[in-house]
Amino acid sequence: MDFTEHTATEAVQNSFSETPDARLRELLNTLTRHLHAFVREARPSVEEWERGIEFLTAVGQACTDTRQEFVLLSDVLGVSMLVETLNEQEGGTESTVLGPFHMVESPPRELGDSIDLVGEAEPCVVSGRVLSTDGTPLPNAEVDVWQCDENGFYDVQRPDSQPPGNGRGLFRTDDEGRFRFRTVVPSHYPIPTDGPVGQLLKATRRHPYRPAHIHFIVRADGHVPLTTHIFVADSPYLDSDAVFAVKHSLIVDFAESHDEAAAALNGVETPFRHAEFDLTLPRQPA
Ligand code: BEZ
Ligand code: FE
Repeated sequence: MDFTEHTATEAVQNSFSETPDARLRELLNTLTRHLHAFVREARPSVEEWERGIEFLTAVGQACTDTRQEFVLLSDVLGVSMLVETLNEQEGGTESTVLGPFHMVESPPRELGDSIDLVGEAEPCVVSGRVLSTDGTPLPNAEVDVWQCDENGFYDVQRPDSQPPGNGRGLFRTDDEGRFRFRTVVPSHYPIPTDGPVGQLLKATRRHPYRPAHIHFIVRADGHVPLTTHIFVADSPYLDSDAVFAVKHSLIVDFAESHDEAAAALNGVETPFRHAEFDLTLPRQPA
């Protein structure tokens, strides 16, 4: 059978027919069908296709141990968020993208510790509980946290002004499933724009900003792990996140607090900013 516009898809799919792994075969067949449909519909010239390959090559070449340009590409195309959303478990706190800045292990810390190792911005307390979906508190749950500072930079982006581990912490909930730590209110920030993904945003007149947020990964025995953020309620860009990751249920008020007892408990002076919310995990399916 000659390779023509009409036989191309079947020919490539047939080439995968001996793939022993059925799921891999299915993924490759579906990818082939959609990729060929894209080419048939968009009809790129040879030069345009070469330009596309050059772009993907540049994306790969921009990747290092501390930079993942392919993840960033998946993020700005909404693919990361689509995969996340389709895989979401019903019932618990909504999930959102992991992002590229969880590349270093968070330092273990005690409840109430500060993850702000610089100490130049207004203090903020973040607290809440980890619960099972039926409301049972989950003691000894692991709460892994990372965030940028009040200027919008993660520690790995500013090694000269932020010590390693700034804005990061690995906590365990107490007997009542509670967590609490001190920090600063993070700023909104641009995703990295000095690589090919930045060129894509520029060429399409898209802004690179993410609304202010704190990242969480929560794990508890017998429960489905959760990767999510909380978003700062009055942040710019909540309606136009460059990576489409905002879910309204994840927006939290970082209110000014004058609560003296809470200030004493958390070792801060009044007034301080306080974000209080629970993180809920569904039980692992049997
Ligand atoms: C982040 O929130 O850390 C992030 C997510 C996606 C792309 C870039 C940064
Ligand atoms: Fe982030």
